[in-house]
Amino acid sequence: MKKTITTLFVATCSFIPPIAVQASELPAISLKSLAKQSNIYVGAALETRHLKEPEFAKTFSSQFNQLTPENEMKWVNIHPQRDRFDFSKGDELVAFAQQHNMQVKGHTLVWHIQNPDWLTQKEWTAPELEKVLEEHIKTVVGHYKGKVKYWDVVNESFNENGSYRETLWYKVLGERYLELAFKFAHEADPEAILFYNDYNNEGMGAKSNAIYRKVKGMVEEGVPIHGVGFQLHLMGEHALSEQDLARNINRLKHLGLKIHFTEIDVRIRDNASHFSLDAQARIFGRLMDFAIYYPEIDMYTTWGVTDKYSWVPGWFTGYGRALMFDENYQAKNAFKAVYSSLLSASKGEFSYQPPISQ
Ligand code: XIL
Repeated sequence: MKKTITTLFVATCSFIPPIAVQASELPAISLKSLAKQSNIYVGAALETRHLKEPEFAKTFSSQFNQLTPENEMKWVNIHPQRDRFDFSKGDELVAFAQQHNMQVKGHTLVWHIQNPDWLTQKEWTAPELEKVLEEHIKTVVGHYKGKVKYWDVVNESFNENGSYRETLWYKVLGERYLELAFKFAHEADPEAILFYNDYNNEGMGAKSNAIYRKVKGMVEEGVPIHGVGFQLHLMGEHALSEQDLARNINRLKHLGLKIHFTEIDVRIRDNASHFSLDAQARIFGRLMDFAIYYPEIDMYTTWGVTDKYSWVPGWFTGYGRALMFDENYQAKNAFKAVYSSLLSASKGEFSYQPPISQ
């Protein structure tokens, strides 16, 4: 039987054209099927417990075709003791992704937080820590070989001023821990597509310059790095600098690297009016415009599905409502803006041009 289609007019948000939606509020043509036509994976971060909620599982599996484990592949969870790995939760997520024909991006192989005490409480020599890093990366990437195609290999190595963050890895191994991590991941799965990932690195500035220099050096030395992730934990009250974003994407793409939008959320002050949801929608939509415009951007991942489980209220006091679905799984204007960009692309009507195109 043909599904009932109604038309939703978004009264408060004039830049968003009407969208056909089902009575359930999910569009008749899914977000993921539109995104596929633009060669973009649309994904979300999540945990196994979220999938136990039917509304969550339905919203996620019907609209998204990419999954990033929000926490369950981090060291503290997947490698709780030196001689013990726990793949149970990661395996559940991968099985769900396989059942629903989704790509998985593993997150994350090297980071400075969410590490187990056995790792952080010991004084390591450089050869010892290198061995631990090698064992960890080869065991985890090896376990998911052929199942997890993309990895955030190194996460958040730089400070805002472009200096190296003084992490355990940097203090003991120096900056070569990055090269080592990419090399180990590549050895464990030569088919895997490997990313450096960070926040506040989407525009131009000291931090993105430092990342650019480092990844350029690695590319030139033949280190197996294939892309850079922009986390994009943004604030609705700050306009996106499209010029800076375009400049940074351009220089990275000229190195032959892919770019992924890896952890998008756009937080809003708790006391802000509903108009702030329109500003938020504009940012979500514009980011999708960039992904459509640049073939080098083929992943658009939000850091969660619903405001109900977003990390934002817990980490940014006074902020929330950062995702595309509200706490009741209703599609927000952010979803509609992303959807409408993809819809126009699918009809051959996409016209956005970044302010700098080279
Ligand atoms: C966050 C998770 O969302 C939280 O549940 C957890 O308590 C802390 O980590 N950058 C990253 C992600 O790369 O791993 C972080 O995820 C958010 C910031």
